[in-house]
Amino acid sequence: MPDTTLRYFKQQLPGLAGGYKLDVPDCAVKLNQNENPWDWPQALKQEVFERVREVPWNRYPPFVPQEFVAKVARHLNAAPEQVLVGNGSNELLYAIFVSTLERGRKVVIPQPTFTVYKLLADLLGAEVVTDGLDDNLQYDAAALEKASQDASVVVLATPNNPTGSVIDPTDLEHLVFNSPALWVIDEAYFEFHGETALELTQTARNLVVLRTFSKALATAGLRFGAMVAHPEAAPVFAAAKLPYNLNVFTMAAVEVAMENAVSMKSRVEEVKRERERVARHLREYKGIKVFPSRANFLLFETSRDPRELWKAMVSRGVLVRDVSGYPRLGKALRVSIGRPEENDAFLKALEYAMTVVP
Ligand SMILES: Cc1ncc(COP(=O)(O)O)c(C=O)c1O
Repeated sequence: MPDTTLRYFKQQLPGLAGGYKLDVPDCAVKLNQNENPWDWPQALKQEVFERVREVPWNRYPPFVPQEFVAKVARHLNAAPEQVLVGNGSNELLYAIFVSTLERGRKVVIPQPTFTVYKLLADLLGAEVVTDGLDDNLQYDAAALEKASQDASVVVLATPNNPTGSVIDPTDLEHLVFNSPALWVIDEAYFEFHGETALELTQTARNLVVLRTFSKALATAGLRFGAMVAHPEAAPVFAAAKLPYNLNVFTMAAVEVAMENAVSMKSRVEEVKRERERVARHLREYKGIKVFPSRANFLLFETSRDPRELWKAMVSRGVLVRDVSGYPRLGKALRVSIGRPEENDAFLKALEYAMTVVP
């Protein structure tokens, strides 16, 4: 480390500085963060404003927002003592990792996956094992079982970001009950897939399920996520959570979202239909390989330079995610499913990009 005044940092930190960067040029069609392309209806936003107006802003929120947690638990079909709430599921992931990882411990993070997992594990000095996805980027239960034997934690996103792959529920149940590790199952895209490991948390003490309101529930800007664990494990994880982590605004908005869950989630089927339509079109292009996806995005590989394709699409006002820097994805891009007209704009921009990038 050149500057001796920075010696207070942990050894692994300087190498990690700037580890999570996102290139976000201003584009009319934004398909790079797997967001819900439809904002909240104005009437529901208004309802949130009205509720927040009634709450004192000078006072702390409740130390443990019990009533709110009970409503979230009901929404998720879990018992309140199993649920912890956070400022996005990322915050809960942080609490889980801080509770379980340190130098000398192993964490299995099958690659490629959501960047934040490895970033946090590296910050904590844990050893990262990347096995678990086969040559087609599908979960490999035997490889996971083997890797998990001497690991403290295994983290699986299902559907996985950015591959769209999912773990078979029978495989997962077998793995959880035959491994000493903590299994963190990130179900950020649950609504687009429909299968959940949540019921297992009632019996398995080594399982945590993460959910977010950032995707199907269109609440990424307000930051809300929840985790569900066995009633004996949840209070232990709570020790690593900051007090008052949820602000009154987020809580009011999440209550309104849960009360209107049916209409808030009404676009999920449309997104799934659009995902299959976009995939069909992509498969018609020569030189493009599309991976099957159970989420609200598609991963595709091209024979062209992905960075150049990305730039050409940006020049046409369409922003997708360049994931070619991820492990094993040197030729890949990821596109979030947007509104039908945005998806059409993406397909057109890609067609153009394929004509200008050799
Ligand atoms: C797998 C996965 N988990 C979690 C998140 C982020 O969730 P949150 O907005 O709740 O922090 C994302 C966002 O892209 C994701 O892809």
